[in-house]
Amino acid sequence: MKKRNVMEKKIGTEMEQRKGRRLVLFPLPLQGHINPMLQLADILHSKGFSITIIHTNFNSPNPSHYPNFTFHSIPDGLSESEASASDPVLLLKLLNAKCLEPFRDCLVKLLSDVSEEPISCLISDAIFYFTRAVADSLKLPRIVLRTGGVSSFVIFAAFPLLRERGYLPIQDSQLEKPVEELPPLKVKDLPVVNADDPEAFYEVVAGLVNETKASSGVIWNSYEDLEQSALVTLGKEFPIPIFPVGPFHKHCSASSSSSFLTQDQNSISWLDKQAPKSVIYASFGSIAALNEAEFLEIAWGLANSKQPFLWVVRPGLVRGSEWLEPLPSGFLETLNGRGHIIKWAPQQDVLAHPAVGAFWTHNGWNSTLESICEGVPMICMPCFGDQKVNSKYVSHVWKVGLQLESGLKREEIEGTIRRLMVEKEGEDIRDRISELKEKANLCLQQGGTSRQSLDSLVSHISKLELFTFKSQ
Ligand code: UDX
Repeated sequence: MKKRNVMEKKIGTEMEQRKGRRLVLFPLPLQGHINPMLQLADILHSKGFSITIIHTNFNSPNPSHYPNFTFHSIPDGLSESEASASDPVLLLKLLNAKCLEPFRDCLVKLLSDVSEEPISCLISDAIFYFTRAVADSLKLPRIVLRTGGVSSFVIFAAFPLLRERGYLPIQDSQLEKPVEELPPLKVKDLPVVNADDPEAFYEVVAGLVNETKASSGVIWNSYEDLEQSALVTLGKEFPIPIFPVGPFHKHCSASSSSSFLTQDQNSISWLDKQAPKSVIYASFGSIAALNEAEFLEIAWGLANSKQPFLWVVRPGLVRGSEWLEPLPSGFLETLNGRGHIIKWAPQQDVLAHPAVGAFWTHNGWNSTLESICEGVPMICMPCFGDQKVNSKYVSHVWKVGLQLESGLKREEIEGTIRRLMVEKEGEDIRDRISELKEKANLCLQQGGTSRQSLDSLVSHISKLELFTFKSQ
């Protein structure tokens, strides 16, 4: 009786429109995954759901940034060397194996806590594919969030076919060969990762695809006008509800920060002093790494372009270096203030700044979408996995950016920057990305596709049978 009162009080006083239902969210502990999951949490909280986040100790979010959510930490069992491993595939495999038991234990505890609002479902990162078996064993509905784009996911789903037809594993002699079944991709655009063990990567991809197919629905940080044809393909192959409700970060007016590194706010005052649309913002995300020679080509390409630039050099970006040691001494001084190098940026604010005219990016999905939403054209330098597909779509399908084609050479970098910032080609690209930005704005307005899709998601979750242990 006492427990029931607690719940009634919570629902009654907190807000009349609270749904009295709780969602358990489980993000993958990587920057490009935790950001969209916490944005989704904000969106669903604004729709009246209570939010519980289960997270690993490794790369844990800061609960004090999210006073409305409840956080539960689980031991991930990663050793120090495993957590800092440079092989992302190995990390994903380890996380899927080592989180299983602690995650299950935590979930069972949450489900049996009758003092809290009842749980409607689990929303898991799609790469945490082990969660399907756990949710099934507890008879808890499981919806997944796929944090990447739909177009790259469709390619992942085609891996068995690509292997059967000999496109995968990739052979160096075939890089320029068109993938007839998936235009406009060439073999070099296929979303592979240079893992020590390619079979391990195929295994992760199979887990991602198969356990998404077996879910009660999949949520996308994308919007219909951007990825319509991929959504149609997906709809044919995946007989589950599909919810493209992105761009997530544009739903909420105040953005809470889930950044692992401190965002350098001085970069905004530096941008304030630059001319409109003059600055190249260069940043390659949270995982990609470069060798020293590549780093120096980037530095000289930026310097020789004569454009102002804001460059994020994440500690660890250059293999074997702490930070900027490989730069020749006096490099920055020779630029007369035209270049500003920082460790981590408030990226969404940077892209929204009027001084920024181009984004040189690795095309992680979040960066790609954030650039589109601000109408900032891109220079594409994909490093691995889905970034290669995203880059191809940016440069050849949406035509809102230029891809660096022949590796990292300072002359090509300089020329590409000029094409984008100075020449007519750049103007056309700017016009096209402005249209995509406009469509991103429209899809979130009343009657827009993402707004409708969000309403469908809310209604889908509300119709799920509430979990009770009696149903076990
Ligand atoms: C990883 C993979 O590399 C990518 O292929 C996949 O699509 C998602 O997971 P990541 O390298 O972290 O992504 O890149 P991205 O998806 O672009 O996410 C980076 C996030 O960090 C963005 O939300 C961006 O706004 C933020 N960021 C980046 C900052 O806040 N500051 C920075 O300086 C750079």
